[in-house]
Amino acid sequence: MHYTNTDLLRIEGATKIFQLKPMLGPAREVVALNNVTLRIGTGKALAVVGESGSGKSTLGRAVARLFSLSSGSIAFKGQDIAHMRSRAERLDYLRSVQMVFQDPFSALNPAHTIQHHLERPLMLHQGLRGVSLAAAVREVLADVELDPELTLGKFPHELSGGQRQRVNLARALAVGAELIVADEPTSMLDVSIRRAVLELMRRMKETRAITFLYITHDIATAQFIADEIAIMYAGQIVEWGPPDRVIANPQHPYTRLLLSAVPDPSVRLDGMSARSFAREAQAVRALARTATAETLEVQPGHFVRKFAAMADAAR
Ligand SMILES: Nc1ncnc2c1ncn2[C@@H]1O[C@H](COP(=O)(O)OP(=O)(O)OP(=O)(O)O)[C@@H](O)[C@H]1O
Ligand SMILES: [Mg+2]
Repeated sequence: MHYTNTDLLRIEGATKIFQLKPMLGPAREVVALNNVTLRIGTGKALAVVGESGSGKSTLGRAVARLFSLSSGSIAFKGQDIAHMRSRAERLDYLRSVQMVFQDPFSALNPAHTIQHHLERPLMLHQGLRGVSLAAAVREVLADVELDPELTLGKFPHELSGGQRQRVNLARALAVGAELIVADEPTSMLDVSIRRAVLELMRRMKETRAITFLYITHDIATAQFIADEIAIMYAGQIVEWGPPDRVIANPQHPYTRLLLSAVPDPSVRLDGMSARSFAREAQAVRALARTATAETLEVQPGHFVRKFAAMADAAR
């Protein structure tokens, strides 16, 4: 694998099979990731978009090294994350890659102030003390547009959901994150503040060169933040490329299905009753579920995984 200094992360043929052993009935396997290949450039955002159960969080957790892959590899700056030689290298990776979750409470300790949450990583990871520590705390707060006077002395429950998510992003900066895996970071927030948090992440990317793996079921927010978008279903990436191309010219029926769920009447499937829409959706999911290794480059950088109807047409 060749690492170019513009690729921060390279995922090659990532496959994750979970073995389920229910109390009753036979053991079975869930293929949560099926041969996923993706890359993210430094300071870029890749959005992984799909419905519930498509494997998005599994991908995010594999990148955060919360478990190992069944096969395939993930390389960070050209180094396979499953084969890091020393403990120092592994710790450095766990520092460089931070997760931000859907529930902004989950990563915060209710017994500690925001000041504590930000000081700790700055002391531990950057070795800061005294005046430079206080300055660094203010700097990361300023980066996420929170007012130090109104924030530092507070406990997590004294902030709004949006403010808590800003604190989580500030924490990631304090730790020294280069890649943030943001798993549905705005879906528990009020609709009115979602956009501001997305705008913040976009600015972190642009001004701090933070790289994002942005996980969402909402193709509209993906378009807002991402440089590349990957549509995922049943563990496979069915279509990927620059967001404007994928959205303006969707090739895979599953991408069209996701777009038809966007509350924009201009992209809705026209003249279809609810029942025929549901039937159509079921057929599309069945089609997207079949695993194929072949892909087609529709336009430069815009790829679609081949599916049955296309293969038939090509014959
Ligand atoms: N630890 C696990 N053990 C067994 N199966 C798992 C495990 N984690 C995930 N799965 C299964 O893998 C598939 C993908 O799950 P995943 O959580 O990655 O989906 P998702 O796209 O993040 O969904 P959501 O939008 O609901 O968060 C699902 O079928 C899920 O049940
Ligand atoms: Mg998930």
